Amino acid sequence: MCSPCGHGSPSASGSAGPVEILPRPSHVIYLIPSVLLLKQNQRKCPVWVMFRLLFFCCVCLLLIVRAEAQVPATIWEQLSSEEHLAKPGWWPRKGDAARSDYVGADVCAGCHSALANGQKQHAMAHTSMPVSNSEGLGRTVNYDIGPFHYSIVPDKDKDNVTYTVTGGGQSFSAPFLWAFGSGSRGQTFLFQHNGDWYEARISFFRGLGFDITPSHPKGIPANLEDALGRKLSPKEASKCFGCHATAAITNHQFDPAHLIPGISCEGCHGPGAAHVAAASAGTGENQGMILNPGRLDPSTSVDFCGSCHRTWWDINELGYRGVGNARFACYRLEASRCWGKGDPRITCFACHDPHRPLVTDLSAYDEKCLSCHVKSAALSVSPDHPGRGCPVSTTQCATCHMPKYNLPQMHAPFTDHYIRVVRDASVFPDK
Ligand code: HEC
Ligand code: HEC
Ligand code: HEC
Ligand code: HEC
Ligand code: HEC
Ligand code: HEC
Ligand code: HEC
Repeated sequence: MCSPCGHGSPSASGSAGPVEILPRPSHVIYLIPSVLLLKQNQRKCPVWVMFRLLFFCCVCLLLIVRAEAQVPATIWEQLSSEEHLAKPGWWPRKGDAARSDYVGADVCAGCHSALANGQKQHAMAHTSMPVSNSEGLGRTVNYDIGPFHYSIVPDKDKDNVTYTVTGGGQSFSAPFLWAFGSGSRGQTFLFQHNGDWYEARISFFRGLGFDITPSHPKGIPANLEDALGRKLSPKEASKCFGCHATAAITNHQFDPAHLIPGISCEGCHGPGAAHVAAASAGTGENQGMILNPGRLDPSTSVDFCGSCHRTWWDINELGYRGVGNARFACYRLEASRCWGKGDPRITCFACHDPHRPLVTDLSAYDEKCLSCHVKSAALSVSPDHPGRGCPVSTTQCATCHMPKYNLPQMHAPFTDHYIRVVRDASVFPDK
């Protein structure tokens, strides 16, 4: 449903699909720093340092000339998720640990019960589940696309759910194995066919029921095989599970049989067996044994959440534009003037505690804005409050400055994290 690898367009808007990265000059500019960052082993060579410096100056000049290129000031500190994953140490989605290094949230709850109780209520904790837990699959569903008939039938105990597609005199049946998405917006279902993972052609959408899975073709399928859904390459299937489950990849192997459903503690903090052993023994020294993202600098912390939500570089490299980008909070946030040179008051977890459910009362975010902005336009800015005051309102800041955009294929609105003065909400400004 949200493939980032270009098979499906995450810019599910229909208005703008993936665009070519090259040869648009603005993208060449973006790519240069990536090349520079990758060549870290060459940093010690003085000729290379000179060359780098020269290049840097050229890039700066070009950036000034091409106002279109919206590059965050912190770009030199940021990486793509692939680059982060290639570095040593824990990073979300990393699959080098053994399955036995993971202990599961119940063990963490033994000492961190308040955090564990709150995290259980977050959508991330439920973003993949066995079909027996899926609300959308609780009753029989019938759906037609042209001559193809779809039925989704739970058994009496709702433990198993059978997906059947018939058409052209042929029929296919398989059990759904996993439901992806917490259901707060919708769910997509995975099944296996001839040993491959497939994403079903139809998905559940809250408040609507079943419809075509985002990024799947809308038209009439050419044959039964097409009608079933989309075959995922082994790499793509492992990526799906990597972002939606914990410990799906261990010892560098994709092992869905032993995963922990949803994003659990160790999906963010890394495998916890060593930390639990040290804490139980009372040695107290946790440093380095489990990652506390609260210690990351602002840019790296946004990249951290971006390991699944996609970093600035991830989106830039994919070259996605258009309203579908409203899904990519990191990319949009870092285009805001508020982001500036990066600041702990405007990281993802400054506004979103990952151990509590998403706060949907928008006035609750006012204090976040007012940690930097002065309360009224009459007040002047200061070093600790560098943001000007609003001439229009003193409350509900996000309602006007972080508009929501409806993504038609998703049948749901997404919040644009490009914080700005909105002159015309019907226009989605590309960045
Ligand atoms: C036996 C009790 C115990 C268990 C079980 C436990 N922790 Fe901890 N944890 C602690 C203690 C005590 C500290 C604080 C130690 C300190 O301040 O250095 C801590 C600190 C942390 C920190 C902050 C580390 C830092 O460097 O700031 C994180 C993150 C963390 N735990 C995550 C987890 C996760 C995830 C699990 C489950 C895999 C878990 N803990 C299980 C006792 C436990
Ligand atoms: C391992 C992957 C992963 C990481 C790391 C991750 N997220 Fe998520 N996040 C997801 C997925 C998947 C969802 C979709 C949840 C659903 O199915 O509704 C999500 C949803 C969310 C939501 C929306 C919740 C809702 O109720 O709609 C927020 C807010 C969020 N994440 C914040 C964060 C923050 C902040 C961080 C960094 C501290 C972070 N995420 C890191 C995968 C991740
Ligand atoms: C790079 C990480 C990543 C990969 C790979 C990925 N997802 Fe997601 N997925 C997310 C995040 C983050 C969200 C929540 C924000 C959003 O909707 O964009 C999400 C949301 C969803 C949702 C809930 C609907 C929604 O928008 O909230 C479904 C369903 C889903 N993904 C299914 C899939 C399936 C199926 C695959 C594999 C074909 C997949 N995802 C691959 C990160 C990922
Ligand atoms: C989506 C990513 C994510 C998940 C899932 C997650 N955490 Fe955290 N955790 C963070 C981030 C980011 C911080 C630093 C910011 C903060 O303190 O909220 C943090 C901080 C912590 C800390 C140290 C700060 C403190 O408040 O004591 C502990 C302990 C901790 N988490 C335990 C857990 C446990 C236990 C779970 C599972 C029940 C869990 N975390 C699940 C992202 C996550
Ligand atoms: C880390 C501090 C920080 C946080 C948090 C922050 N801002 Fe800003 N914001 C700034 C700075 C600095 C500027 C640039 C100076 C100015 O225009 O006031 C700015 C600019 C703006 C602008 C003008 C943008 C433009 O293009 O002219 C708006 C509107 C705005 N912020 C709204 C918000 C809202 C709403 C929130 C909360 C959802 C918020 N800010 C959170 C620091 C912050
Ligand atoms: C200045 C505060 C602020 C910051 C910083 C922030 N968000 Fe949000 N975020 C919001 C608000 C406000 C909403 C809308 C909540 C609602 O309507 O329920 C939201 C909603 C979301 C959602 C739910 C889906 C949606 O689009 O409505 C996700 C996922 C999310 N944010 C992820 C992130 C990530 C990842 C980061 C870091 C790049 C981040 N946010 C940084 C304020 C913030
Ligand atoms: C009802 C919608 C609305 C709400 C609510 C709102 N604003 Fe604004 N804000 C605007 C509009 C419209 C402008 C542009 C005013 C103009 O240029 O005449 C603006 C301008 C701004 C600016 C730029 C000021 C400048 O000097 O150019 C900032 C910063 C800002 N708002 C921050 C905030 C913060 C912080 C809050 C919450 C305390 C907030 N706004 C609440 C509509 C709103």
